[in-house]
Amino acid sequence: MALPEMSCDEVNDADDPSPVITSSSSDHDMTTTSRHYFGDSTANSDSFCIAIIESMKEDYGLFVWPCSIVLAEYVWQQRLRFSGVSVVELGAGTSLPGLVAAKVGSDVTLTDDANKPEVLANMRRVSDLNNLSCNAMGLTWGLWDADIFSIHPKIILGADVLYDTSGFDDLFATVAFLLQNSPGSVFMTTYHNRSGHHLIEFLMAKWGLKCMKLIDGFSFMPSTKASGLSGNIQLAEIVLNS
Ligand SMILES: C[S@@+](CC[C@H](N)C(=O)[O-])C[C@H]1O[C@@H](n2cnc3c(N)ncnc32)[C@H](O)[C@@H]1O
Repeated sequence: MALPEMSCDEVNDADDPSPVITSSSSDHDMTTTSRHYFGDSTANSDSFCIAIIESMKEDYGLFVWPCSIVLAEYVWQQRLRFSGVSVVELGAGTSLPGLVAAKVGSDVTLTDDANKPEVLANMRRVSDLNNLSCNAMGLTWGLWDADIFSIHPKIILGADVLYDTSGFDDLFATVAFLLQNSPGSVFMTTYHNRSGHHLIEFLMAKWGLKCMKLIDGFSFMPSTKASGLSGNIQLAEIVLNS
């Protein structure tokens, strides 16, 4: 029998004095629940925890990738920009940045590849587990299903969505469409800078986009979180070049 997923409220704090990320697992269904903390609970009454259900199955969308931890922390630190605005997360997978946005007051739609029912189902489970009411829907980059015409995000999030160069063009096509559909909107993304920015720069020019901000993802991470991460993670804010 599988163990139930535990929300943050159900964790015994006495066993867990000052966690940054903690996890519990069930061998039966190969899932683990990791908990991610935002703010300083001793100093800040706004602090909170998000529980994420992860799976060891081989699917990119069922694991919390480091870029997601970095983008989620950025959302928390930039929370005033997120209050009361409409947010869409692309390639959300386990959805940590989108759930943080919902927690700080955004109206959030979580999206992932429409052909991945398990990932979409998990997005709904993590939203429920954290008592959040995010929308969840399939949105495959480069495809124009009816649903995409109904969303007008002020902020588009994407953590580790620039990981396979064969998908970059479709991703930027979708991002450009959403930015055009919602004037004044911004795409915030974190990615591993593995081979320079040449392809990203080329595709931004192709799709009429420009980078407004490019920062080292580790520059704003609390040391307790940064110590568990590695790589060269960049955070970019991208807008229409008009
Ligand atoms: C490396 S994972 C990152 C997941 C999550 N954002 C994170 O950082 O933990 C890439 C995500 O992009 C999604 N994805 C890949 N190709 C896609 C496509 N063509 N359309 C929509 N989502 C896609 C995958 O299903 C997966 O959830």
